[in-house]
Amino acid sequence: AREQTFVMVKPDGVQRGLVGEIVARFERKGLKLVAAKLVQVSKELAEAHYAEHRERPFFGELVQFITSSPVFAMILEGENAIAVVRAMMGKTNPAEAAPGTIRGDLGLTIGMNVVHGSDSPESAKREIELWFPEGALTYERTVD
Ligand code: CMP
Repeated sequence: AREQTFVMVKPDGVQRGLVGEIVARFERKGLKLVAAKLVQVSKELAEAHYAEHRERPFFGELVQFITSSPVFAMILEGENAIAVVRAMMGKTNPAEAAPGTIRGDLGLTIGMNVVHGSDSPESAKREIELWFPEGALTYERTVD
């Protein structure tokens, strides 16, 4: 089914100048960019986004890191977009992510793993509403 998914380039990726490379990979794959913005994340947004990890020992570090410097947030749309994005990102731990994936090619440690993508249709809906209350744009391709 045609889906929308929430994706963000984390502070490490933005600081390393990897936004273009990462967006380019998704665009080349055929996914459609329907919303995008650079965001300085508040503690409130970080805690809401990572609510499911609240009890984890690394929760404090996670919130600290994601609020440390801007992230590039986007909504991507396409057939099976949620699973396709996750496959393209690779495993959460870049040390285990396959070469050819974003984390496999560009990441090194689990804390700074370059990119985040929604892990299910439920997460995608929740994260899109949380990060883009203004919604996505609707447009058609009219050029070759
Ligand atoms: P993400 O997909 O953004 O969702 C939760 C994040 O927690 C995950 O990527 C990792 O960056 C981070 N994470 C998972 N395990 C650890 C860990 N052991 N130490 C620090 N961060 C972690």
